[in-house]
Amino acid sequence: MEFSTPAGPNPIDTGRVVTKPVDRIDGPLKVSGRATYAYEYHDEFPNAAYGFVLGSAIPKGYIEAIDAREAEAMPGVLLVLTHNNTPKQNGSGQHNSPQLQGPGIKQAEQAIALVVAESFEQARAAARAIRVRYARAKTGHYDLAAVKDASRPVPKSPDSKVGEFDRAFADAPVKLDVTYTTPDQSHAMMEPHASVARWDGDKLTVYTANQMIHWAVDGISGTLGIPASKVRVQSAFVGGGFGSKLFLYADPILAAVAAKRLGRPVKVALTRPQIFNHTNHRPATIQHIRIGAAPDGKIVAIGHDAFSGNQEGGEAEEAANQTKLLYGGENRLIRTRLSELNLPKGGAMRAPGEAVGLLALECAMDELAEKTGIDPVELRIRNDIQYDPAKGPDRPFSSRKLVECMRVGAERFGWNRRDPKPASVRDGRWLVGMGVASGIRDNLVMPSGARVSVDREGVLTIETQMTDIGTGSYTILGQVGAEMMGLPIEKVRVRLGDSDFPKSSGSGGSWGANSASAGVYAACEGLRDEIAKKAGFNSRDVTFADGHVSAAGRSRSLAEIAGQDGVAFTGEVKFGKLDDTYAQASFAAHFCEVAVDWATAEIRVRRLLSVCAAGRIINPKTSRNQCFGGMTMGVGAALMEEQVVDGRFGYFVNHDLAEYQVPVHADIPDLDVVFLDEIDDKSSWIKAKGVGELGICGVGAAVANAVYNATGIRIRDYPLTLDKLLPGLPEMPRQS
Ligand code: MOS
Repeated sequence: MEFSTPAGPNPIDTGRVVTKPVDRIDGPLKVSGRATYAYEYHDEFPNAAYGFVLGSAIPKGYIEAIDAREAEAMPGVLLVLTHNNTPKQNGSGQHNSPQLQGPGIKQAEQAIALVVAESFEQARAAARAIRVRYARAKTGHYDLAAVKDASRPVPKSPDSKVGEFDRAFADAPVKLDVTYTTPDQSHAMMEPHASVARWDGDKLTVYTANQMIHWAVDGISGTLGIPASKVRVQSAFVGGGFGSKLFLYADPILAAVAAKRLGRPVKVALTRPQIFNHTNHRPATIQHIRIGAAPDGKIVAIGHDAFSGNQEGGEAEEAANQTKLLYGGENRLIRTRLSELNLPKGGAMRAPGEAVGLLALECAMDELAEKTGIDPVELRIRNDIQYDPAKGPDRPFSSRKLVECMRVGAERFGWNRRDPKPASVRDGRWLVGMGVASGIRDNLVMPSGARVSVDREGVLTIETQMTDIGTGSYTILGQVGAEMMGLPIEKVRVRLGDSDFPKSSGSGGSWGANSASAGVYAACEGLRDEIAKKAGFNSRDVTFADGHVSAAGRSRSLAEIAGQDGVAFTGEVKFGKLDDTYAQASFAAHFCEVAVDWATAEIRVRRLLSVCAAGRIINPKTSRNQCFGGMTMGVGAALMEEQVVDGRFGYFVNHDLAEYQVPVHADIPDLDVVFLDEIDDKSSWIKAKGVGELGICGVGAAVANAVYNATGIRIRDYPLTLDKLLPGLPEMPRQS
């Protein structure tokens, strides 16, 4: 079914199961250790051998010589793959990930060998015995600031120009011209990248930690040069992804190559330190923001230039994109620029673009509020716009409740207790401040299919390639199926993450819940028709409730209609062009209170509130949980997260969870999330929008603005670590 006109009333509106805080249906499996992750499968991969990836010690250059003889002779070693004995692979497909294809080195921790042994420890020990002679390139670029001036426009992100920015900015009564920087960041998800592969004749089975099953099938089959129909991928449970598991790295490819060579299953997991340099990361940005405003705070000119770097052929971090839509202003100039770097490859990390774009834009708005003497909440309300500023009123937002988010949040948070004068609120040795920021996240949609069936017990089974990366997909898809078929959630089974099921949106970019739910909706529509037909009813006026289908006073149970053979339907949603007609995004207002230690500059987040408008909330419990995760990452981005580049060797030095700092429980206070009532009939039949990444969009800026309000120190270089605050802290009053 194509979704190309706004949704009318439909069974989802009933809200019997959808919109309820249903517990995770996979919760019991998770807490009892029966939710199996890729590396943990044993029975399905009998006698599996263990592979260990050896990564490159240099960032750029080539391998002059690699000698594996000593490694090959070590106990338990079955195979050493290097570029000298690995079959040719294909690198041309978008999701392909060729490994060990030659002596050239493009980044630190690029796979240069795979050792396979009877045990993991034997493989690891032997990898250390491989002798490598490198020819390290004398030149390499590892610092964005140094290559920024050699940046180029990005065809995928053309410049957005409205009105005459230069003139309007020059003439503006109030001008702000600031540059913010954000560092490289790592996903630091809990489950490492891991795969296990097995061949049955010419058929390859790979269980792997991955967000996108059909991309994985494309990438594995494309890289190995075998038909996609011969590749089965499974990823039933994923321990976090955040964009790091959208694509393929060494583990699935080398596991498959080694399994073929050995004629037995092979497991490969990346170690935690390898992940930080071998897989993707969120690239650092330099963001130049210029805002011209009238004395009443109304923006007349807004400019945002976002610079980032990547390897040749890599993509830009599109940190200026949200500035096209978040606020009004008749003169606009928004540009994305990309430079070439030889760091590990940059890529998508939770809310790519907005997550770091808002760290800059929303602090700049705080600076504008101070310059104009207007309350930061009021400033944002004054600059709200209900249509795409580049297209005009002909392209309104499908739904946009930023102003309501601000008002509700200000009220609940006690914003009126904020003292606008920085460094004026004290609580013992603490300087206390409050900050606010807007959140916006593009609402993306992707085609998605599902197979649904009812058996003779009246149980509905939903099967789709959709993944659950910790987000709650099992539960919400079950809710949608239950709602559509008039069943309680207990009568629904959900099976995910298997390429044998219909293709789905997968999990990424916050498109999963809405898109995959719409796919289940489409399949259930078909199933309802089938059942009505079998029941002998006219399918137009039947109702599904309490396990029965009814029409004109007659009622039959689904179990009875399904009978011995059951009844099934496979359906799919495709999305038309509604997003040309309507700008679509979810919105939030984030409020933060921090305390900064007068002597040490230690920053403690005391309270955090996010008020979100993201269309229909399918499950307030899992959505809230997603927002908590995003908010926690927002605190990390503001205060801790930074991959430190070794400028000599071109790699990230802090490559484990001891040194790459993310918030722990003790860093996160009372979090609160409020969802506004919102139904977006232009988004899908579910009328929901993406919510997973909304929590990270803007939170970090709210934290930084609170730090400014507490201390009067504006740091424009993330993260806000105490060394940057200490020199500017106000004098501590003498003890009397
Ligand atoms: Mo998300 S960064 O698309 O997994």
